[in-house]
Amino acid sequence: MGPAKRIGILTGGGDCPGLNAVIRGAVKSATRLGYDVVGFLNGYEGLVDPVSYKPLNRQNTSGIIHQGGTILGSTNKGRFAATVGISRRVELPVELLAAVQTTMEQLQLCGLICVGGDGSLAVAQQFHEFGLPVVGVPKTIDNDLSATAFTFGFDSAVACATDALDRLHTTAASHGRNMILEVMGRHAGWIALHAGIAGGGDVILLPEIPWTFEGVCHKILEREAHGKHFTLIVVAEGAQSPDGQLVTRENEKDDRQTRLGGIGALVGQEIERRLSRETRVVVLGHLQRGGPPTTFDRVLATQFGAHAVRLVVQRQFGKMVCYHPPSIDEVPIIDAVNDLSRVPPDGAAVQAARALGISFGDACPDDGPFHPTSRSAHPATAADTAEEHEKVLTP
Ligand code: F6P
Repeated sequence: MGPAKRIGILTGGGDCPGLNAVIRGAVKSATRLGYDVVGFLNGYEGLVDPVSYKPLNRQNTSGIIHQGGTILGSTNKGRFAATVGISRRVELPVELLAAVQTTMEQLQLCGLICVGGDGSLAVAQQFHEFGLPVVGVPKTIDNDLSATAFTFGFDSAVACATDALDRLHTTAASHGRNMILEVMGRHAGWIALHAGIAGGGDVILLPEIPWTFEGVCHKILEREAHGKHFTLIVVAEGAQSPDGQLVTRENEKDDRQTRLGGIGALVGQEIERRLSRETRVVVLGHLQRGGPPTTFDRVLATQFGAHAVRLVVQRQFGKMVCYHPPSIDEVPIIDAVNDLSRVPPDGAAVQAARALGISFGDACPDDGPFHPTSRSAHPATAADTAEEHEKVLTP
């Protein structure tokens, strides 16, 4: 009997558009090379008691490239996710690792493709250190892995947020209201930055650039002075408030991570309190994670799936596929999970945005013409009274 020619694949962590395109890409390329593929269900959980998987073939992975979610299911909770985080590595129990090894041996797997974000890849790294033949595929809408120029799912999330901004733009302009869109992005503000630029945002608030309420109000008044009585503000869920606090959902903590949410509402409240301007807040939430992947994500995910199979065939284990334009490449998984990607505050996209006049909420010249307290800064409005100016100055 020749060497085992069966590959396992699983999708771990939060879902995102493009997971099915990876699965399809891997299965189609593997079967053409004479390999069988099995897909484990519900992320890493499917690997152990009770082991749950299904055979994957060209038939049951056909017609799924455009489908959001994952046909294998996923979870960001459970025995693997609860014990391992990127910044707080906790060793997986040896018994759990041994159980995974047993499953892989019983199914005669020659390799396991783990599709996931930083947490799931940190699990894959521990599998690799235990001697299991694993290959990683980077997935996250947050785009927060340095080792790859882009993760799949990011472009789809940005498209969704941009569409939301396009819609908010017209209603904001019609009513002369400020609109705040809160988007995902735990530690990195890539979605807010790209959607903010693409969707004509006026203010973008990121975890990476400290900002103030004065800075945000300043931009609103500056726009009003130019006859624009609405302002579009995009805020990443992980953008700390000016006092350095992450805004979280009360009573919605789980064993894995604190649920973020509410920074948009806080910004909205402060705008109304300081400027008495009508402001509405929209939390885009999981709409960003659902639905069909963009064409970019379909192509990237397909390439990732095919390259992951290539790495298994070449026995390049402990590697993660990555996109180094124009090439699809590979890096050690450990490099990927150790080096998370943040928006560089002086990077090209931020510089371009600033050149256009987009505010990051950090600039509020003391005596500039559009300072919130300057009476010449804006036409007579509700805020154009000494009392309102006082509100701007004293939070
Ligand atoms: O890590 C990706 C992400 O989309 C974050 O931006 C967000 O905070 C988190 O997942 C939400 O995950 P869930 O609601 O599935 O626990």
